[in-house]
Amino acid sequence: MKPLNTRRDFILNSGKAGLGIYLGSSLLSACSTPSKITTTKYTTGFTQQPLPYAYNALSEAIDAQTMEIHYTKHAASYTTNLNDAAKAEGVDTTKPLEEVLRRVSKYSAKMRNNGGGHYNHELFWKIMSPTGADAPSGILAAAITQSFGSFEAFKTQFSDAGKNRFGSGWAWLVADGDRKLRIGSTPNQDNPLMDVSEIKGFPLMGLDVWEHAYYLRYQNKRPDYIANWWKVVNWPFIQERYSAVI
Ligand SMILES: [Fe+2]
Repeated sequence: MKPLNTRRDFILNSGKAGLGIYLGSSLLSACSTPSKITTTKYTTGFTQQPLPYAYNALSEAIDAQTMEIHYTKHAASYTTNLNDAAKAEGVDTTKPLEEVLRRVSKYSAKMRNNGGGHYNHELFWKIMSPTGADAPSGILAAAITQSFGSFEAFKTQFSDAGKNRFGSGWAWLVADGDRKLRIGSTPNQDNPLMDVSEIKGFPLMGLDVWEHAYYLRYQNKRPDYIANWWKVVNWPFIQERYSAVI
C-alpha cells in the first residue's frame, strides 16, 4: 500500500473486508486488490446542476444547439427517470448516487441506465470549460507521461477508446484501486464506478460518444468530434479530481 496522504479526504473502498485506518476525519480501508475508489470531495446528488457556462461557450468543439438539447432534453431525462427509479426502488436520494452505482447490479435496468446517465452527464459538463488549459500540468501531467509515455500518446489512446466504442457509450480516464491511471470505455450509460463495469476506478474524465453529443455538427464523423473536443477539456478540474484520490 502506498503512503497515505493525510491532507486528502478520501475513502478507498476495498473489495475485501480488511484494514481500516482513521486519519483525522478520513476513513481509509484498503487491501492489496481494492476494486473501487472514490472520494468524499466529489459526490453526485440526484438533481441536475446548472450548466456551468452558456450553451454556446464550447462552440469551438460543440455547437450551442447540441449543448442545449443535450443538457435540457437528454441529460434532464436521465435525471427525471433516475428519480422515478429511486422512488420505486426505495433509494434514499439524500445520499450520494455513487452508493447506488457501486452496487448497481442489485437494481433495475432503469436505475442502471439513468443513474449512469445522470452521473456521467453531471461529470461531463464539469470536465469541459471554455477557459481550460491546453494540457494537464503538475502531478497529473507527470502521471500521464509515466502511464502512457507522453501526453500525445495518452490523447491517441483515449481518442481510440472513444472512436472504437461500438454504438453508444463513453471513453474514460480513471484512477483505479491502486490509484494508477487507466483508459477504457463503457457501453450505453455504464461507468467505471459500477460493479458491472469492465473498467473500474474513479472517473477523472469521461467523453460522451453517443450520437446525441455530436451528430448535428459532425454527423457520422465521430473522430472529428473527438479531435475538436480536446480544445475544451477542463484540465484544472481533472487535476483537482486526481489530487483528491492520490
Ligand atoms: Fe449524452
